[in-house]
Order: sequence, then structure tokens, then C-alpha cells
Amino acid sequence: AKRFYRVDSLHGLDNLDRGESAFEENRWVFEISHEAANKVGGIYQVIRSKCSASVEELGDQYILLGPYKETSVRTEVELGDFPSHSPLTAAVNNLRAEGWRVHPGRWLVDGSPQIILFDIGSASGRLDEYKHELYENTKIGIPNGDVECNDAVLFGVMVARFIEEFRAEVVNFSDAKPRVCAHFHEWLAGVGLITLRMRSVDVATVFTTHATLLGRFLCAGAVDFYNNLDKFNIDEEAGRRGIYHRYCMERCAAHLSHTFTTVSEITGIEAEHLLKRKPDIITPNGLNVKKFSALHEFQNLHALSKEKINDFIRGHFYGFMDFDLDNTLYFFIAGRYEFGNKGADIYIEALARLNHYMKASGTNKTVIAFMIFPAKTNNFNIESLRGQAVTKSLRDTIHDIQAKIGKRMYEICLTGRLPDSEELLLKEETVRLKRCIFAAQRKSLPPITTHNVCDDTVDPVLNALRRCRLFNDPHDRVKVIFHPEFLSVTNPLFGMDYEEFVRGCHLGVFPSYYEPWGYTPAECTVMGIPSVTTNLSGFGCFMAEHIADPMSYGIYIIDRRYIGLEESVRQLAQNLFEFVQLNRRQRIIQRNRTERLSELLDWKILGTYYRQARQHSLGIMYPELAPEEEAAGAGRLNYPRPLSEPPSPTSSRATTPAPSEVGSDDEDSIDSEAELEELGVASANGSTVSSR
Ligand code: UDP
Ligand code: G6P
Ligand code: GLC
Repeated sequence: AKRFYRVDSLHGLDNLDRGESAFEENRWVFEISHEAANKVGGIYQVIRSKCSASVEELGDQYILLGPYKETSVRTEVELGDFPSHSPLTAAVNNLRAEGWRVHPGRWLVDGSPQIILFDIGSASGRLDEYKHELYENTKIGIPNGDVECNDAVLFGVMVARFIEEFRAEVVNFSDAKPRVCAHFHEWLAGVGLITLRMRSVDVATVFTTHATLLGRFLCAGAVDFYNNLDKFNIDEEAGRRGIYHRYCMERCAAHLSHTFTTVSEITGIEAEHLLKRKPDIITPNGLNVKKFSALHEFQNLHALSKEKINDFIRGHFYGFMDFDLDNTLYFFIAGRYEFGNKGADIYIEALARLNHYMKASGTNKTVIAFMIFPAKTNNFNIESLRGQAVTKSLRDTIHDIQAKIGKRMYEICLTGRLPDSEELLLKEETVRLKRCIFAAQRKSLPPITTHNVCDDTVDPVLNALRRCRLFNDPHDRVKVIFHPEFLSVTNPLFGMDYEEFVRGCHLGVFPSYYEPWGYTPAECTVMGIPSVTTNLSGFGCFMAEHIADPMSYGIYIIDRRYIGLEESVRQLAQNLFEFVQLNRRQRIIQRNRTERLSELLDWKILGTYYRQARQHSLGIMYPELAPEEEAAGAGRLNYPRPLSEPPSPTSSRATTPAPSEVGSDDEDSIDSEAELEELGVASANGSTVSSR
């Protein structure tokens, strides 16, 4: 695979011309994914965050193709036909004439790209015929009962038919030879690519896999995956798990594509062994990085969002609020509920040890650790709702009394004297307050989960918390909250969406075992929130390649590859403990450094690899169009050790922004000009020094 940092300078997508050259060259790009305007996991983030850069490059010659899902369409897409004089409209009309329901529109995200959504129900009448065609050509037989695969076939055939029609129509609209590229994501969209090749449609194809089916399955079992990659009997393993046909679809799409890509080197190695094809290019995942006009706005946002989390905590821990919120740190893990793959197992184990370290050290700090994984529930539990109600009632009562006191004070002062204390807080108001205080007493400990979890007794998170005896006891310095549902603004407990929640936390902890990329820590990074990742995650390896000392930039990379499980847990617990020891000033410096890494993850730079992949495919299809020189990679950005780093003769220990030592807990003391610069505050001569 091509490595992604081969040249010294930076070749981004900055100087593109909003699709003008694509128009002149009659160049069209279709990007096909089940997660286009349909949120499931990280692939949705890939497609969505890249839109702005793609439209910048290709204008209206960039089109997304996805399945029509009514609920997401209602909130995410503005439906409406494209202009009548366009090969896209001609192709849409041809499919409609066959009785298929095809919905063009614009996805309401940055860049507002064109999107065409296929209602697979309208093609289901001929499912058997399509499956037969697939079988005749590839010998892949799909069992009747596999609904997801049947849908994948319908979607694939509809997409392929559309592109076939488009290819036939496009020649009527321009004299320039059309160059059409179709980029497919993940096995669920793979049938589209297979069908295009089966029918010899004249388009260049790219296939990107974001994981392998078998890799995800094998890792979820207790298998030493990375040391046995070359030893698995793949057919047998797939057969044993009842996914042989799915695995064949994935492997077939990977092999039939003109260009095959994976999102990271590590998934490239996995694909080489499990799909038997090495990726031609690595296409690392980016984000739509937006800079605030005020340099440290993300720090202010952290403080604002943290205050909202504080409010939730006051409600959740009512009756047990014996810890200081100013000395409380919020950690979290979040994602699809794959307990082992996402590293929730070692997170909880490490929290138990952290609890022990913190108690033993006599610290005055508290850690509240969230776990956010959607699981089956019967709604929020009474205790959690009650907690919020109790604190709300106290808050409302105080507001009311406050207003009344103000009014009385005003009236009395108008008479020319000061009020007595009995005139300020009346007896009946004291009674009201006492009643609220009594209501806020309780015997049972604050719950470890916010919901009634359906499979409570076998739920892996709950069981791990029970095993580790993390029960939110007042003596515990680590408290835990399992929130078995993704966050949204309509959430009655938090009232904030995921992004706002992340901003308010101090550390994202994602110690994954199986993670081809891992958007969650990447998202933390662009928001300036430090995170834990691993050397088995695409993101973790990517950061390690580019940063001399990731930990000092707030990227903690746990070794899950070369050491045993016990050692990984210990390393994680140790890292968490070191983080806890940072003081506020050090955390602010670290957040500034983390945020500086955003440019590494910007699609304006990383989109280059998508361009390379398409050029590679077009070069194979139309050798006369192959560029004499291949497009350069995105270049290498290097992040040296930070300025204020004390010289470090030893190991990785000196990697945090100067961990607290005796005396350094003075939050206001600034030790050097370099540190001043890192804080981004006004320097002694009055000018403002920024952290960049
Ligand atoms: N996510 C979310 N709400 C949550 C937790 C996570 O929307 O409460 C999103 C998160 O922003 C990220 C995605 O879920 O974009 C997870 O992607 P990742 O690549 O980390 O893992 P995947 O699920 O694809 O394996
Ligand atoms: C941001 C704000 C500061 C605030 C700090 C809290 O940097 O700009 O005003 O003091 O966050 O940081 P902490 O790590 O304690 O949540
Ligand atoms: C997959 C992987 C995840 C990756 C995402 C986007 O779902 O599990 O690690 O970030 O795809 O590429």
C-alpha cells in the first residue's frame, strides 16, 4: 500500500476550483454507501464530513447514492428533482419508467451535495432474478432468510442500473469523453460494484473497506487476532459463523474493484490476510475542521458544556454530593456496543485500579466515568429521573425565594432603611427550603445506570461494574454512569447532543482492540479534548506516525499489540492516573496542544487520497488518461515535542505537560515564556501570543 506521508511539502485541496475542471473534463464521481444520509456508525461520519471538500473539488459532478430511509430523509434531506437538462435527470427518469422509486435531492450538510436515494422496496419484485444473476456470475448464493443481504442485493442492483443508464446518457450532454468514477464503501454497497463489473459498464471503480466482516467477528471472540492473521482458515471461520456468503460478497467486491483501499495500514494488513488483496492506497479518515474566529473559543465551550454536565451530576448524585465539582474530572467511552472490540472491558478494569490509586494517594479529586453504548432498555429508570426532578425543584424554589427577597428588599429600602435578616428570609421560606433539603436525602447509592437495561443480569458493562465493585460509594474516588443510549438534545437528563457532551468532558477513553480507524478519538482531537486510543486503532497508529510525542499533545496511545492484556490494563490505569494528577493550568495547556493537531485530520488535506484512488482507477480504465506523474500524497506534517517540555533524558514519562510536582499545583504560576505562549495569554509586553 502507498504510505500517506511520502513527500515533504503539503499538497492539500486548497486551490481547487469548485468543480470547474471536473466540468471541463466531463469528470463525474459517484460515492455509494449505505450510510449516506443514514446514521449508523463511523462510515456516516466519513461520508458526511467529506461532503464539503468533495463539493469544493467536484461541484455538482459529485453525487452521493444511498438507500431511501424515511426517518432519516425527513430530517436530513431536501428532496427535489435536479435540473431537467442533465444526464442525472435523464438516468433518474429511465429508472422511474421501469417502476422504481428514485428520490433525488440535496443532503442538508456542509457543502449540500446532491444525493440520490433508492427505495429498495420498489425493486423487490425481481429480487430472485437479481440473486440468480449474481449466482450465475459469481457463484455467491444468498440464503432467503438473510434480509440484510437481500436488501444489499436490491440496493446494489438499483445503483448499478442507475450508473449504467447515466453512462449511456452522459455522452449526449458533452463532447468531452466522460470519465466516470464510482466509489463504493463497505460490503453492504459492494453488490453495486460487482454488478457494474458483471455487466461490463464503462466506469472506473474504487472499493473502500472500513473493516472486514471476519476481522470484527474474530476479534469479538477471545482470539489472539493480530498474532494469528496468517493462520486462520478463513472459509471455515466464516462458515462457522454463518457469514460465508457475506464474506464472499466482501471479498468479491474487493477483488473486482480497480482500486482497493482501506482506512488504515492496520486494516490493510488485515485485508491482505482475510480478503487476500492488499490495498492499493490507504485512504485515512478526515473531518470537516472548522476554526473559530476567536482562537480559544473551544476552551470557553469546554467550560460552558462542562457546566451542563455539572448540572446533570448534581441531580444524579443528590444526597451524595460530598465531592467538589471544581475538582471533578469527566471521562467517557462511547460508541456502538461492541464490549470487547471497543475496549470497554479494559476501561472498566482500569477504572477500578484508578479508584484504588486515587484512594491510596489521598487525592481531593473525583473522576466520573461515563459509558455511552446503546443497549436495549425499558426507558430511563425512576431514580435517575427523580434525581433531576429533586434538584430542579430545589433550584426553582431558590429562584422563587430569591425574587421575593429582592422585591421585599427594594420595598423596604424605598422607605429609607435597611431590612432586618428576619425580613429577608421569611419563616415559611425557610420551611420550603427545608422541605426541599429533606426531599434530597436518600439511602440508596446513586445508580450506576440511567436506564432500565433489558438484559440487566447479562449486560457486559453492568456485570463488569459489579465485578469491579464500582457502585458509586461515597468513599470511591471513581464514580460511574452507564448511559445505554446515544445522546441527543431531547434527552431529559442531559439535554445535550453528543458533540456538546464531548466538549464538556476532560478525557475520551477509547482503548479499542478492533478499530480500523476510530472516529471517536479523532472527534475529540478537533474539539481540543485529549483522548486515549491504542496501537491497534487506525487513528492511534496515524497519530503515532506524525507526532514525536503524542502523549504531550493529549493523545495517549495504549499498547494492545505487543504486550499482554494485564500489562495493557496497567498501562491504561497508569495513564489515567497521570492525567488525574495534572492541574487545571496543565489541562488547559494540553487542550491547546490537542486542538493544534486538528489540521492533521482535515479533509482539505486527507481528501487527496480519495483523489489519488480515483486517478488510479481512471488510469486503469483509460490508460490514455493516466497522469504522467501520479498525484502526490498529502505530505507529512510533523509535530515535534512541545516548546515548554522540560528536556527529557529518560523515557516517555516526561510526556505530559509537566506533570504536577511539589509546588506546581499553584494553578496560576506560569513557569516560562514558552508556557505562557502555550496558554495563549497576553505576554508581559502586552501583545497576545497564540498557541500556533
Ligand atoms: N456517536 C454518536 N453519539 C454517541 C456516541 C457516538 O453519534 O453518543 C458517533 C461518533 O460521533 C462517531 C461514531 O458514532 O462518529 C462512531 O464511529 P467510530 O468510527 O468511532 O466507530 P464505528 O461505530 O464506526 O465502529
Ligand atoms: C477553559 C476555560 C477556563 C476554565 C477551564 C476549566 O479553559 O476557558 O475558563 O477555567 O476551561 O478547565 P478544566 O480542565 O478544569 O475543566
Ligand atoms: C468502521 C470502523 C471504525 C471506522 C469507521 C469509519 O465502522 O469500525 O473504526 O472509524 O468504520 O471508517
